[in-house]
Amino acid sequence: MKAFPETFLWGGAVAANQVEGAWLEDGKGISTSDVQPHGVFGEISERKSGDMGIKDVAIDFYHRYPDDIALFAEMGFSCLRVSIAWTRIFPNGDEQQPNEAGLAYYDKLFDELAKHNITPMVTLSHYEMPWGLVKNHGGWGNREVITFFERYARTVFTRFKNKVKLWLTFNEINMSLHAPMTGVGLAGNSIKAEIYQAIHHQLVASALAVKACHELIPDAKVGNMLLGGLMYPLTCKPTDVLETLQENRQWLFFGDVQCRGEYPGYMLRYFRDNNIEIDMSDSDRQALKSTVDFISFSYYMTGCVSADEEVNAKARGNILSMIPNPHLPASEWGWQIDPVGLRVLLNMLWDRYQKPLFIVENGLGAKDKPDADGTVNDDYRISYLNDHLVQVREAIEDGVNVLGYTCWGPIDLVSASKAELSKRYGFIYVDRDDQGNGTLARSRKKSFYWYKDVIASRGSSLKR
Ligand code: BG6
Repeated sequence: MKAFPETFLWGGAVAANQVEGAWLEDGKGISTSDVQPHGVFGEISERKSGDMGIKDVAIDFYHRYPDDIALFAEMGFSCLRVSIAWTRIFPNGDEQQPNEAGLAYYDKLFDELAKHNITPMVTLSHYEMPWGLVKNHGGWGNREVITFFERYARTVFTRFKNKVKLWLTFNEINMSLHAPMTGVGLAGNSIKAEIYQAIHHQLVASALAVKACHELIPDAKVGNMLLGGLMYPLTCKPTDVLETLQENRQWLFFGDVQCRGEYPGYMLRYFRDNNIEIDMSDSDRQALKSTVDFISFSYYMTGCVSADEEVNAKARGNILSMIPNPHLPASEWGWQIDPVGLRVLLNMLWDRYQKPLFIVENGLGAKDKPDADGTVNDDYRISYLNDHLVQVREAIEDGVNVLGYTCWGPIDLVSASKAELSKRYGFIYVDRDDQGNGTLARSRKKSFYWYKDVIASRGSSLKR
């Protein structure tokens, strides 16, 4: 393979609530993730003293980060995407002053990355917010939360301005449509009008964070983060094609607002047709004008869309209500594997926005089985990642400006959808199971050495 550009960033991505553990340490407050012990689609269960959730310890990254970062450095990472747990900084969300111990922890984390020349990319809110803001203020449904978020964002920008130059606002901001508690702190049975109002507040908050970051760290770049949910028409019937356009717009809408600074006409029509009235002030409209510097997105799978009611009744049913593509294989969790779709998506986003793109999540969740000697020969993961990276290289050749690639979960972690540890993504195996048994010891899988070669050769070791 032709080598990737020299400036291309290589690495991995993790999220605080899926790796850190230490869920009440150093003054941390309870987050929406803490009260969802079974994952982002699970029931809310308020914490009682003595009960244990898998995320309470997760993979104990909070204490083991120096060793884990050393392993990332051994693979040659030039970038690590992490998130800050908002609840470590503002435990209930509405305090006036931040929690110094939380800030001090991230200071140490960023210093450790600097020691290894690894560029941090930091998500401000990755699938969690202070539970206090949900319980006492109504989550993002309440406009007041914009102010709390802005205070949090300004606090971390000010504190880490010399250490972090790449920021992301909300992880998979479009996910709120499928998991309202995780995205916007609203109950699962909230109606569309409530969800879109909360989303509006979050979009305003995201834009205010972009503005604040530009003011406080002039040499920083801020991106949005979309779940790249590319959909194909199930057939070439014009009605299927039109329906697919509408479905893709359900998530592209977020990118349109964050990149173009205003609501697109098709969304205003959707609101009119569905009797949704968004309370949007002139100052909201003004705030939205602060658009992102680059677009980041996750990419795991694609799906199909049909306008035919009967087809839909039979085939839809999974979380994102996609119809399976008859031409694609799937992972053990039913996520359809589509490397070419990544090239399509990169080209589509580049054509639409002409802003640099960053793939901040991609990977294969699988049930690894260590051999008798403890080695994990994860050829399936190598082949998945190889095939996706080949398509990234193709997209660069197509003229798309791709800044970098951080694969999801370079070290095994707790899955977001079901809070499982048996759904492993890592190059590094962690000895812990779904019940929390295990030593938490780390070991290198076969893919560890493979990724190391890919990075060292700037992608020329990839196989077509
Ligand atoms: C993305 C999230 O949706 O997908 C991550 O940003 C998540 O937090 C990842 O872990 C993979 O999903 P899962 O459910 O396999 O962990």
